Amino acid sequence: MAGFSGFARVAREVSRDVLAARDRDPAARGVSRAEILATWPGIHALLAYRVSHAMFESGVPLLPRLIAMLTRTFTGIEIHPAAEIGHGLFIDHGTGVVIGETAEIGDNVTLYQGVTLGGTGFQTGKRHPTVQDNVTIGSGAKLLGPITIGHGAKIGANSVVITDVPPNSTVVGNPGHPVRVDGRRPEGPDVDWIHLPDPIAEALQALSGRIATLERLVAELSDEPQPVAEVRPLRTVRGPNPAGG
Ligand SMILES: CC(C)(COP(=O)(O)OP(=O)(O)OC[C@H]1O[C@@H](n2cnc3c(N)ncnc32)[C@H](O)[C@@H]1OP(=O)(O)O)[C@@H](O)C(=O)NCCC(=O)NCCS
Repeated sequence: MAGFSGFARVAREVSRDVLAARDRDPAARGVSRAEILATWPGIHALLAYRVSHAMFESGVPLLPRLIAMLTRTFTGIEIHPAAEIGHGLFIDHGTGVVIGETAEIGDNVTLYQGVTLGGTGFQTGKRHPTVQDNVTIGSGAKLLGPITIGHGAKIGANSVVITDVPPNSTVVGNPGHPVRVDGRRPEGPDVDWIHLPDPIAEALQALSGRIATLERLVAELSDEPQPVAEVRPLRTVRGPNPAGG
């Protein structure tokens, strides 16, 4: 970290991170920059990362990893000092976020808690995702391998993404599939990745029907009145979009 210029660079970067939190966190409305700097764990993690990254680039031994380890203890956010992160990253809540050594993140990216930018195994070299500008990654999403997340993409909460994601698309599910590209549903057969069949619910529904039939037959054959079990209908899986709003 080359003296004053290094310090000035880190200060500039952190200032843009604070602005990103203020602009993109609804909970930050009316909160001063100083308060965000003092109390937002995502900002603490980024401040520590910006310092440790500058040290790492200057070849300082041990200290960058030590800072990363301590920051993880306090914030629950783990960012490898070698990761490349652009301007205006916003990490909301933060706990459980892991950003691996060869991950690259562009400008104005938003990550929610529990996001992993990780590798798929024990390979070396480039093994973590590249996330382009203006991407949003929902809570709990796992992005694994040296994949590219195209600019402006949205990754749904709890998705598991192991292939490249086209720009300006929305990807959900495990494995993650595009459900919107440029705001439109992808066309073609078999593209409904959201309303998947639920084999357990279907099996229970079939069993309930057969039990009801048996109860009716037993009641018809018996002189004694038979108690009839109450079978509640299963909730339909279709309906209004639960992710809406
Ligand atoms: C994916 C997301 C960003 C919405 O993106 P969008 O482009 O506006 O997408 P839409 O809301 O139009 O949803 C597209 C489809 O994906 C489905 N969908 C959305 N998010 C989903 C998810 N996480 N998992 C599964 N399906 C999802 C929607 O139901 C919708 O289905 P439809 O095609 O039947 O209508 C949003 O749903 C999400 O997951 N945000 C993360 C927010 C978060 O982590 N918050 C934590 C705050 S503490």
